[in-house]
Amino acid sequence: MVHTAEYLPATGTDIGSVLQGGYNHELTREWQSERHLSKSMFIFPLFISDNDDDDTAIESLPNIRRFGLNKLVPYVESLVAKGLRSVILFGVPLAPGVKDPVGTAADDPNGPVIRAIKALKQAFPDLYIVCDVCLCEYTSHGHCGELYEDGTLNREKSALRIAQVAVNYAKAGANCVAPSDMIDGRIRDIKRGLIDAELAHKCMVMSYAAKFSGSLYGPFRDAACSAPSQGDRRCYQLPPGATGLARRALRRDMAEGTDAIIVKPSTFFLDIISEAARICEDYPICAYHVSGEYAMLHAAAEKGVVDLKAIAFESHQGLLRAGARLIISYFTPEFLEWLPN
Ligand code: PBG
Ligand code: ZN
Repeated sequence: MVHTAEYLPATGTDIGSVLQGGYNHELTREWQSERHLSKSMFIFPLFISDNDDDDTAIESLPNIRRFGLNKLVPYVESLVAKGLRSVILFGVPLAPGVKDPVGTAADDPNGPVIRAIKALKQAFPDLYIVCDVCLCEYTSHGHCGELYEDGTLNREKSALRIAQVAVNYAKAGANCVAPSDMIDGRIRDIKRGLIDAELAHKCMVMSYAAKFSGSLYGPFRDAACSAPSQGDRRCYQLPPGATGLARRALRRDMAEGTDAIIVKPSTFFLDIISEAARICEDYPICAYHVSGEYAMLHAAAEKGVVDLKAIAFESHQGLLRAGARLIISYFTPEFLEWLPN
């Protein structure tokens, strides 16, 4: 018989082999989790258009609607009543001709995001308002930054323009700006911009630091009308296999002054979430359970493959286990119903 260092034969019974006494009761099963889902971890994505009376279902995102300013506050009110603490805003310009090569509409003072920040702040002073910062919803070409003539990304101009948008959201009252563009150097420009505008102490920067390209953003691009007209985002979002690049981007964004980290997508990138929790151990880590992940779980539930509530718990518990402390999730309204606090 081979005795390894770990194998210590017990005399008589092997007492270390019996684990089930530790989780035979509903309460002790709960004790076994290091972290529990709670309402305050959830950030709910809101799509806000420039048509004030808009209230439109998004076909590929079950139960998610796009709202105009007039419909937004009553809807959010029903969620705040159930314990909603935070939202992330995405603007959807529908007016014809509003998109241009530099995304001017992103921080139009009369555009949907800036007006929504003000309306939400006024109606819900305690609601934590995160603004996604990107240009793709507002550019005529649908890319996340400004382009050179040859269609490649102009890094320097893009980062400065994105910083300008972030500062304008912060001026309007956003509690947090979350740049999702993945263009090199924008965290530094945003932080510099916030410092110069004397807003850095009042506005958090939450970087989408490890955001991967792939097939999971389709329903979002329907909702936000932000699919690129040509090309794709593979020259700025990370290649799905790129663990090393993700680590470098995480370290880079910390060095550039981010206050928190987003990993996106979530379920297929649990290893990256735990890498982020390790590399960025002093930062809040947020997992973004993206539109495609949400739509897939709904589709599976509709087919009778899974129970929606059970699978939602399992997937979101996985994010916590991997090391996330916050979750951006389209399931937020359901979790506000399901969770006791
Ligand atoms: C904008 C942005 C996207 C998402 C968040 N911000 C789309 C993209 O990068 O193509 C995706 C979120 C989701 O799929 O739920 N850059
Ligand atoms: Zn974008």
